[in-house]
Amino acid sequence: MKKRVLVATGGGDCPGLNAVIRAIVKRASREHNWEILGSIDAFDGLLRDPMHLVELTPEKVAGIHVQGGTIIGTTNKGGPFAWPVKNTDGSWSTVDRSQDFMDRLRYQNIDAVINIGGDGSQRISQSLYEMGCPIIGVPKTIDNDLSHTDFTFGFQTAVDTATDAVDKLVTTAASHHRVLILEVMGRYAGWIALHASIAGGAEVCLIPEVPYDINKVMQALEQRIDNGKGFANIVIAEGAVPIAGSMSYSENDTPGAMKIRLGGAGMRLSQELKDAGCTIEIRETILGHLQRGGRPNAFDRILASQFGVKAFEMVLEQKWGHMVAYNHPNIVAVPIIDAIQEYNLVDTSSDLVNTARGMGISFGD
Ligand code: F6P
Repeated sequence: MKKRVLVATGGGDCPGLNAVIRAIVKRASREHNWEILGSIDAFDGLLRDPMHLVELTPEKVAGIHVQGGTIIGTTNKGGPFAWPVKNTDGSWSTVDRSQDFMDRLRYQNIDAVINIGGDGSQRISQSLYEMGCPIIGVPKTIDNDLSHTDFTFGFQTAVDTATDAVDKLVTTAASHHRVLILEVMGRYAGWIALHASIAGGAEVCLIPEVPYDINKVMQALEQRIDNGKGFANIVIAEGAVPIAGSMSYSENDTPGAMKIRLGGAGMRLSQELKDAGCTIEIRETILGHLQRGGRPNAFDRILASQFGVKAFEMVLEQKWGHMVAYNHPNIVAVPIIDAIQEYNLVDTSSDLVNTARGMGISFGD
């Protein structure tokens, strides 16, 4: 009987998921005795009745590395430890179905699990591993906030998208002599904002790691205007915080989902600037899910392919409880528990931040 690997993509999608899936299947097809199954919509496919699993053959994954999204679907709510159930009064609660998950793996004769996902998914991987699940993690997220890997795949493509947006906003800001604010994703990390600010040439970059003082932002804008430029571009991370303020978010009551949804930082900044006396016209753009969609760039396709091949090789080596990671120039295995211990946030004393400051980019501090 063939050995079986269950592959799932969990959490928010990002460019490169399909390239990982394809690489796993291609590498597995070089062994004689392995079958790859995809669980539809993260682990929901295994937990649903009827189950929804698909066989991932080399024919099925041919050419998918160029496609955005994930051919096996994903979800960023629910999962084995917080399965949403509707109560008789119509309200929702969650139940722990992790033991059921383990039983279903056994009934399906699954020998290994590869969980491709961000920090939430890898927390699930770690908890399943502690229950005895033979599991390998693959780090994905546009936010680049998983530690113990130089980069997650998907991040560089999101940076390209954000940089393209800055490039476009610079020309319209210049034509109209306006301040243009671009809000980008990244959750509690400012990686996308920082990279896009340097690549696109923004004047101000506001990230969660450096709480901003609106008066300092105003000073930066005034200097820029006094230089005779007459326009300015600001990139703000969705998790950016004013000093003595908090992140801008809305409550999320979707069962099994994260309790808060970040957003609104750009509009808030716009109002703060007006309140602080900014007389230049301001316009706001929220880049949103554009950053998650579309074709992965070459870097992400390559990194995703390296992660996929390595993940299957870690299955052969039975490196359970480990996550594939990029430690330039090598692809290595790190304990999942280490990767989820703390977020990978922007180091404010790093060369990258120093480069930004050296180019005159203000962090509002
Ligand atoms: O983690 C990826 C991410 O895109 C974050 O940058 C963002 O805060 C969040 O997911 C958005 O999630 P949703 O797709 O549920 O709106």
